[in-house]
Amino acid sequence: MNGKFPHDFLWGGAVAANQVEGAYLTDGKGLSTSDLQPQGIFGAITPRHEGDSGIKDLAIDFYHRYPQDIALFAEMGFKCLRTSIAWARIFPQGDEETPNEAGLAFYDRLFDEMAKYGIQPLITLSHYEMPYGLTQKYGGWGSRATIGFFERYARTVFERYKHKVKHWLTFNEINMSLHAPFTGVGLPADSDKSAIYQAIHHQLVASARAVKACHEIVPQGKIGNMLLGGILYPLSCKPEDLLETQRQNRDWLFFGDVQARGYYPAYMQRFFRENGIQVAITEEDRQTLRETIDFISFSYYMSGCATADPEQYETARGNILDMVPNPHLASSEWGWQIDPVGLRYLLNVLYDRYQKPLFIVENGLGARDRVEADGSINDDYRINYLNDHLVQVAEAIDDGVEVMGYTSWGPIDLVSASKAEMSKRYGFIYVDRDDAGNGSLERRRKKSFYWYRDVIHSNGNSLKQKG
Ligand code: BG6
Repeated sequence: MNGKFPHDFLWGGAVAANQVEGAYLTDGKGLSTSDLQPQGIFGAITPRHEGDSGIKDLAIDFYHRYPQDIALFAEMGFKCLRTSIAWARIFPQGDEETPNEAGLAFYDRLFDEMAKYGIQPLITLSHYEMPYGLTQKYGGWGSRATIGFFERYARTVFERYKHKVKHWLTFNEINMSLHAPFTGVGLPADSDKSAIYQAIHHQLVASARAVKACHEIVPQGKIGNMLLGGILYPLSCKPEDLLETQRQNRDWLFFGDVQARGYYPAYMQRFFRENGIQVAITEEDRQTLRETIDFISFSYYMSGCATADPEQYETARGNILDMVPNPHLASSEWGWQIDPVGLRYLLNVLYDRYQKPLFIVENGLGARDRVEADGSINDDYRINYLNDHLVQVAEAIDDGVEVMGYTSWGPIDLVSASKAEMSKRYGFIYVDRDDAGNGSLERRRKKSFYWYRDVIHSNGNSLKQKG
């Protein structure tokens, strides 16, 4: 792997506020949509009553323990940490005129702590949550008014942190609203397609407004989108399978097309027409969308297949998408198909399509870990998964793809998004907490901690090309 990663490659890890912070009502924070989903992003919306509790309320208590956690990330040599700002810490109900100072002060402390070690923040404005008040009062992203509330929030945090945060992302996995509408756009799960695409349109306009605001406010700031990179292969070379694969890949590439090119791609006209989808798009919206992102970011965990005859096959569930399994690939304990080569392929697809720098902001293996009698955790399965994916990143760089960095998902164990479990662990750092919420919250280095430290220190030269 010698010399393939650029010298300024941003190595690090990625977490999200609602999966690590806890402190769900501390320092004036309002309820966020995530606080109403104790069973995870597909779970029912559960009203909260006095005395109710959920695993995310405390999560891994990052809100209070971040100095220790940042020190551990620094020990691994992190150049970058991706996290999100909980919008409801800054605007508790979402529609206030002025922000909550205590919420802003928390992220000042967090970014200052990172700066001590030279760790650059990569900040997602909205990672699977928004103030619950906006869904109650306005119907979430179904309302145009939410665009203005989001812009106010984005401008507030850009102004506040413009000297501390240079890399920003707008909406986490923006394409997932098609599959989990409450989590993505604050709409009920049974909303029809027109309502969902209208809300998505509002979110795309809001994303473009944030891009404009970032360019105006943050000196040398760069802002990207964030896609769930759910790349699909044709199950066979049958022409109909190929066409179906293209159609399904466009379901998610559509978001990148709008955000990177600044207009709706032509293929969406036919899609809307044939599916009876009406979306109100104003001339002003079209102008706004022209403000395009500086880089593309995405998550990658698995690939899948598409077929024109889906009824003949069982589908495999990832965290968001149902995919037809690939007969050539093995799966994780959670049934996600493991495909390192797919990461090289995806990087090339995205670079060919957009010619913008790419940032891999999530990738990792969710697995059960065992703490041995001597306290060690020998997670060779995780090391193998990450090694093999990073080898393919190096190959893509060699192919000519411009890759800004790599932040592995969940460098410290956290609450999983799809099912709100602690037992599905991604970390280099083990956190003593179980699915029932028991445990001391003590942090412990896994074998992969030392492995990743070596990868970063050698700038990728310690990776092992196998076979
Ligand atoms: C991504 C999300 O979809 O996948 C993360 O952006 C999430 O929030 C990650 O945690 C892994 O999914 P899960 O369900 O294993 O936590």
